[in-house]
Amino acid sequence: MLSYRHSFHAGNHADVLKHTVQSLIISALKEKEKPFLYLDSHAGAGRYLLSGEHAERTGEYLEGIARIWQQPDAPELLKPYFNAIRDLNPNGTLRYYPGSPLIARHLLREEDKLQLTELHPSDFPLLRGEFLKDSRARVERADGYQQLKAKLPPPTRRGLILIDPPYELKSDYQAVVKAIHEGHKRFATGIFALWYPVVLRQQIKHMLRDLEATGIRNILQIELAVRPDSDQRGMTASGMIVINPPWKLAQQMNDLLPWLHQKLVPAGTGHTSVTQLVPE
Ligand SMILES: C[S@@+](CC[C@H](N)C(=O)[O-])C[C@H]1O[C@@H](n2cnc3c(N)ncnc32)[C@H](O)[C@@H]1O
Repeated sequence: MLSYRHSFHAGNHADVLKHTVQSLIISALKEKEKPFLYLDSHAGAGRYLLSGEHAERTGEYLEGIARIWQQPDAPELLKPYFNAIRDLNPNGTLRYYPGSPLIARHLLREEDKLQLTELHPSDFPLLRGEFLKDSRARVERADGYQQLKAKLPPPTRRGLILIDPPYELKSDYQAVVKAIHEGHKRFATGIFALWYPVVLRQQIKHMLRDLEATGIRNILQIELAVRPDSDQRGMTASGMIVINPPWKLAQQMNDLLPWLHQKLVPAGTGHTSVTQLVPE
């Protein structure tokens, strides 16, 4: 279908949650010297112009990253994420938002590798253009779900696999579980991070039930809601499912979420949670 464009949503509260978790996981992987793979199955365009027609039309970033990136009391844990944003906006005006591949590019070391896939005919060339001079990166126009079969395990046996589909199709909720199950069979020690939107809570309950039925252990769920669940249209919350999370991640998110929620949702509606869904 491919009608989804991330440029309408870049920098919103869901990106803030996703990219906070992504940057914390990458920081944890960097605590060991051994190189690792960053695999981004649904990579997007890489860079988003916030004054562009798409982002301006929705203004979602104004209630997301714009509310937090220059706060003087921002927790230290957000530094790696915010530094990736400063890297694209050196004069202090928020003009560009880095998508997950550019956050990874900023944080990865010389010896680490990036494997990025994107299918959209307009976003793929933009993504490829960003990485032309980066010898660590392989950028392909290919189906992201297939990558979890084709590219795992990485030779270094260490890695973060970010799965961030647009959920345009109802079948995406089953496709993600199937792809993770396949990937986990090949790379059981990898860190898998799946983003999800809460539009209808029932869809997420089914997806989590299917994930638990795979028998995969050590699953953490992190959620940030800006409004209570609703059966009306629209995303009320988003979350990250992390398989094999770094040991500090749950505590780090418990520390960060109250600050993030307070700044992102001044009205105080919604909730945050960190839940160990399946034990080790
Ligand atoms: C939510 S966006 C990704 C945003 C990006 N991960 C980030 O955080 O900056 C989802 C992307 O997946 C792409 N896409 C949709 N189906 C795909 C598939 N089967 N394989 C790879 N990419 C796909 C869409 O074109 C879209 O750019």
